[in-house]
Formats: sequence, C-alpha cells, structure tokens
Amino acid sequence: MLRAVDDLPLTTHPMDVCRTAVSVMGANDMFAGSNSPANNLRKARHLFAQMPAIVAYDQRRRHGLELVEPRADLDYTENFLYMTFGEVPEPVVVDAFRISLVLYAEHSFNASTFAARVIASTLSDMHSAVTGAIGALKGPLHGGANEAVMYTFDEIGTPDRVDTWLDAALASKRKVMGFGHRVYKHGDSRVPTMRSSMVAMLEHFGRPDLLEIYINLEEAMAARTGILPNVDYPTGPAYHVMGFDTETFTPIFVAARMIGWTAHVSEQLAANALIRPLSVYIGAAQRDVPA
Ligand code: COA
Repeated sequence: MLRAVDDLPLTTHPMDVCRTAVSVMGANDMFAGSNSPANNLRKARHLFAQMPAIVAYDQRRRHGLELVEPRADLDYTENFLYMTFGEVPEPVVVDAFRISLVLYAEHSFNASTFAARVIASTLSDMHSAVTGAIGALKGPLHGGANEAVMYTFDEIGTPDRVDTWLDAALASKRKVMGFGHRVYKHGDSRVPTMRSSMVAMLEHFGRPDLLEIYINLEEAMAARTGILPNVDYPTGPAYHVMGFDTETFTPIFVAARMIGWTAHVSEQLAANALIRPLSVYIGAAQRDVPA
C-alpha cells in the first residue's frame, strides 16, 4: 500500500495521495465487494489503522526521509506523531493532537459524510464511499479550510497587518478561511476546546506572534462581520507549530474522520435506501434551439 504512495510524484497534493491510497486499498482488498456488517467493520478498522501510516509517510518522503514503522507500545495518537517525526513529542503536544483528532472524528451530515452516504446508498462499497468522501473533504469550504488558514496567516505575516489585510479581503468579497459555518451561526461548539489546545501549543513552542495574529483576526472578523471561527481556525496554527507541513493538515482530518465516515457507511448499508434527490427546474419552459 505504501508502494502506491511511492509511485506518486512529490508534487501530488497529500489529499490526492490519501484519495489514491484508499482507492488502491479497495482494489487490493479481496473482499472489497462484500458489504456484510462483519466485513464492513473489518474494512473500517483497516482504513482507520492504515491512514496515519499513509499521512505520516507521505510527509516524510517529501523531506527525503525514510519510513518509520509503528511501535506496539504506543497508542494511536502517539504512533501517528512517532511515524511522522521519528520521536514521540512531549505529553502536552500528544494531548493537543489527540484532542484535535477526537474533535474531527465525527460531525453528522457534513458534505463529505453526505457524499459517502450517497455513494454507499447505491450499494457500492466502503472504499469507494471513503474515496469520494476524501474528494469532498479536500475543498477549502470543508476540510481544506485548516490548510487555507495557515496560508492566510502566512499572507498576513505580522499581527499589525491584520486589519489592513482583513479590510482588503472583505472589500474583494474573499471568504476568510476558518470562519463561518453552515450550521453553527452562533459559534462552533468545538472551537473552545481546540482553541485552548492551540493556545497551549503556541505557548509551548514560544510563538506569541502567531497567537497575536490569531486573536487580532478573530476580534477584527467578529467586529466587522459578526462571523465566528470554526474548528479549522485553531487547528491550523496548532498543527503548524507541531511540525506538520501545511499540506498535511487536511490529511490529518481524513485520518480522524475515518471513524465518522465508516460508521455512517456501515449504518447506511445496514438499512439502505437509495439517496436520490430531485431538483426543481426553474429555467424557461420552452427554448428555441438551432435547427
Ligand atoms: N468570510 C467572509 N464572509 C463570509 C464567511 C467567511 N468565512 N462566511 C460567510 N460569509 C458571508 C457570506 O459571504 C455571506 O455574505 P453575503 O450575505 O454578503 O453574500 C454571509 O456571510 C452569509 O453567509 P452564509 O450564506 O450564511 O454562509 P454559508 O452557510 O453559505 O457558508 C461556509 C458556510 C462554511 C461555506 C462559509 O462560512 C465559508 O466559506 N467559510 C470559510 C471556509 C471554511 O472555513 N470552511 C470550513 C467550514 S467548517
């Protein structure tokens, strides 16, 4: 499975690596087509176990580093960090990373989970549904926002530039990444927990400059638009100081959300009905067409 990663160019975006890896795993799974509950549980466990290895190895190979094998004495979170960095960081870092994974693990009918449900509802299979979900998560309006947050910080550069940057962004109708939510209109309930972990990380790694940008942008955005941060806003800087490459942020989300996706797919298949919405045509009743 990791050989499939090696076959991909180093320029391939890590989200495309994840999507391809899951597709390859499905193609190599002798029982990929069986949707029995027991087989789906097996597939879900394999996907959950394998994803950190893919994400960690993909970051390493971009830096010319060798694969790090997991250790049986480490838990899931510790192994994820160990396989990425070749050492287990201090407990405060492990805790912050674990909290982010738990917060990302499941979140009802978000776009990627809904995409997975739609695919499963045709009686397709787990790997196909997860492959589609990864494609849906990639976009910056969904999971890709945590990566995009870090590019925003890079663009802003220094805390004193926040107001000027934001005024220009809003004037040009740009979406500020890591803010707003389709469901949470009065604040994302995951943010306070992740914000505390992010503050702990910026203090631990001695980055008051990033914390100042974070707070200035949060306050300026609230003052100008009333729009509050979503969970991707604090995860961005937290992952950055932990040492993850910015392009690796959304793949971490993939590894964590594997829990939610595979549970939803299993639930869908256990009591399936085809998901097939109708659209309402609002165009002209009659159109002239060239002869
Ligand atoms: N930056 C700037 N303006 C934003 C905004 C943001 N992050 N989020 C919403 N708005 C604006 C919209 O442009 C809209 O303005 P308008 O009425 O002048 O056209 C207004 O706020 C209302 O937005 P709304 O339609 O209620 O939001 P939505 O439900 O369509 O969008 C998101 C939800 C998540 C797609 C949107 O907030 C967004 O693009 N956020 C940035 C990406 C992100 O962080 N995604 C991760 C989500 S967990």
